[in-house]
Amino acid sequence: MRTVLIVSIAVTMFASVTLSAAETFCFTVVADPHCADAATKGIEAYGSGVDRFLKTIKTMEAMPAEDKPDFIVLLGDVHPDALKPRIAEVTIPVHATPGNHESSAAKRVLLRSLFPADFKVNEKPSDYYSFVHKGVRFIAMCDAGAGGDHIGHLCSEVTEPPGQCEWIEGELRAMEPLKVVFAHIPAEPDGQDRDMHLSRNDSRWFNALVKETQPLAAFFGHLHHPTSSYTVGRTQVFQVRSCCWNFEKAPIGFLHCRVKDGELRTREILTGEYAETR
Ligand SMILES: [Fe+2]
Repeated sequence: MRTVLIVSIAVTMFASVTLSAAETFCFTVVADPHCADAATKGIEAYGSGVDRFLKTIKTMEAMPAEDKPDFIVLLGDVHPDALKPRIAEVTIPVHATPGNHESSAAKRVLLRSLFPADFKVNEKPSDYYSFVHKGVRFIAMCDAGAGGDHIGHLCSEVTEPPGQCEWIEGELRAMEPLKVVFAHIPAEPDGQDRDMHLSRNDSRWFNALVKETQPLAAFFGHLHHPTSSYTVGRTQVFQVRSCCWNFEKAPIGFLHCRVKDGELRTREILTGEYAETR
């Protein structure tokens, strides 16, 4: 087994304004663990999907104290049935959101059961939820619709309870000056009708709401491409690479985030690369 590869690359972004004196803390963003996936050709050395996810967590455990994350934001396509037998090895708190691989009611229930402190609104089961950590509001949207559709939907018969859009509007206008929003399927930056993204009109609605309410950052997964980012108004939006596999043999890894003086600083940490590119 190769030693875990930890390579920081220059993806450091800053919010354009200081909005609040929130406490300094770190969190990480992990996309598409695909825990049920078998060893992937070219990166067999890192084991199965769940092995690669747990290795990602081990990398965080080995970080110096000042970098250790308070929690992981997990951006969907979790495969909760494959993670469940090894959930005891998840040593860092996780806040997850459903992916299109969690598009059935049964998988949603299983995902909620792994993270029982989350997935509630007004104490009732919900596929979307929020929490406040050290003064920052984290808003977990559910944009994976029924049937495993690769195009995202904020309204779907499988998403419980109805009313998510009104709930998101309320959350993004809540009192905390610093907010972070995350979901599995990325909004389309220009509001176009495009595969693998949030539907055209949901994207336009979301982008306008972000422009108005100015959260610190938004994070999405689903694409399995090297991490990229862009801005919507003052908000930095990230499309985060998978920690399990990526197209075109791009390395696997996660995003490390530090909130300090009301700003967000990020860097990528790579945890593996394909044999052909090593
Ligand atoms: Fe996905």
